[in-house]
Amino acid sequence: MKNYDKITSLFKRKGYVWGPSPEIYEGGVAGFYDLGPLGAMLFNNIENTVRAVYFENNYYEIKAPLIMPSKVWEASGHLGGFTDPLTKCTKCGAVFRVDKLIKELHPKEIVDGLTYKEYDKKIEDLSIKCASCKGPLSKTVPQDMMLKTTIGLDEEAYLRPETATTTYLQFKRYYEFFRNKLPFGVYQIGTAFRNEISPRNGLIRKREFTQAEAQLFIFKSDKNKYSEFKDFEKIKLPLLTWKEQDKKGKPKKTSLKEAIKGKIIQNKAYAVSLAVGYQIAMELGLDEKRLRYRQHYPNERAFYALDAWDLEYKTDSFGWVEICGVHDRSDYDLKQHAKYSGKDLRVKHGRKKEVPHILEIAAGIERLVFTVLEQAYDEEKRRTVLRLLPSIAPIQLKIFPLVSKDGLPEKAKNVYELMLNEDFFAEYDESGSIGRRYRRADEEGVPFCITIDHDTLEDESVTVRDRDTMKQVRVKINELEDFLEEAIEGDIDF
Ligand code: GAP
Repeated sequence: MKNYDKITSLFKRKGYVWGPSPEIYEGGVAGFYDLGPLGAMLFNNIENTVRAVYFENNYYEIKAPLIMPSKVWEASGHLGGFTDPLTKCTKCGAVFRVDKLIKELHPKEIVDGLTYKEYDKKIEDLSIKCASCKGPLSKTVPQDMMLKTTIGLDEEAYLRPETATTTYLQFKRYYEFFRNKLPFGVYQIGTAFRNEISPRNGLIRKREFTQAEAQLFIFKSDKNKYSEFKDFEKIKLPLLTWKEQDKKGKPKKTSLKEAIKGKIIQNKAYAVSLAVGYQIAMELGLDEKRLRYRQHYPNERAFYALDAWDLEYKTDSFGWVEICGVHDRSDYDLKQHAKYSGKDLRVKHGRKKEVPHILEIAAGIERLVFTVLEQAYDEEKRRTVLRLLPSIAPIQLKIFPLVSKDGLPEKAKNVYELMLNEDFFAEYDESGSIGRRYRRADEEGVPFCITIDHDTLEDESVTVRDRDTMKQVRVKINELEDFLEEAIEGDIDF
């Protein structure tokens, strides 16, 4: 949990993340958080970065309802089948998610893909007791994660535990929209709800969170003939197969071409989905050395999934955290919805009619927000700084008059207006010494500060200070827009 307390207190102070919510009622409920003004802006920037990655890769956005009647969840298999392994203290009644409890106390233990009996054996072998009172723990039992509600007077319904299922229901409409041709991709960004067992990891494990899930609909026999693959085949991903995990091996940087040849990845369209998931992490500036794609063990993945890999980021606070799951969901979903709705979801494939397969890229926005913030946090001797990528920083520019007199505030406000008109996210600040204003901007992650001084009145130039190097350069006001655009793209060396 290195730095976690310091980081969360900075996030609270600076209006990034508040909670658990509702804070004023007995300290709030675990798993619910508010985003303050800077948090909400960062969230939107991250969401828009993911949106741009999906769109660039030919997925189209849709939006579906968050609540669906029970029948939908019976069909998807979530009702009754979407559970987490729970253990209860037989003395004080505290509940724990078994896999998380074991991992927390014994980080080196492999807990992925274990059966409930195997969890019980681990609890016994490792002499794990209740984390609150040291009492004995019960046998592992399944805990339902679905959140129930009612539509109208008495129609039983559930809040969606993933966006994916609600995306699949309109398959026939997409088919028409894409002019009766496969493959095609759609994505949805929206809220999902899970009744997580005693969540304690802040934004990492919420009970209400935002998923950005892209779905590629493709015929089974086309999965390995995917023409886009040639644009991706040289991309290298840090792949950790389940067999390597068993041997406690490390991820290997493997090109998609090699991975297909070596049958590490089963088909070309799925390989491209993995690359698109990775692109999200790259666009957000996540450190490659902290990333790996971990393949699920055969008994860990959903029973219908043909393959599943999690893109994981090594956090200082919680160790490896899944930020995006990539799943080959086969034809399971559409077949189930056809069966339960009574509608034919097959489409023409040559002379036959066929239900397509679905390849899914499932990212979680809050987890991306947390990993981006944790990675950005840096303490130096004389300052704390959030090194957010300029392209996603909530406030891109702060504009300061050096002193609050001699016409400098008026001139600084002119520059501020100019920057707003050019669509930069800018803030004006004249309170406190210039040093304090720089420190404040550093803590908020503002990449560039513009100072208006007495020379500005003479020569129409300002200083631009770079957050990371603290270096300053002089730029003419009429060249400021181009300069800052390049700086935000990372094309200027200070
Ligand atoms: N449709 C597939 C699906 O839902 P998942 O791996 O369960 O797959 C996808 O979830 C992503 O959603 C995860 O990679 C993670 O980023 C995010 N996620 C899942 N549970 C979460 C939670 N309780 N709090 C925050 N994010 C969560």
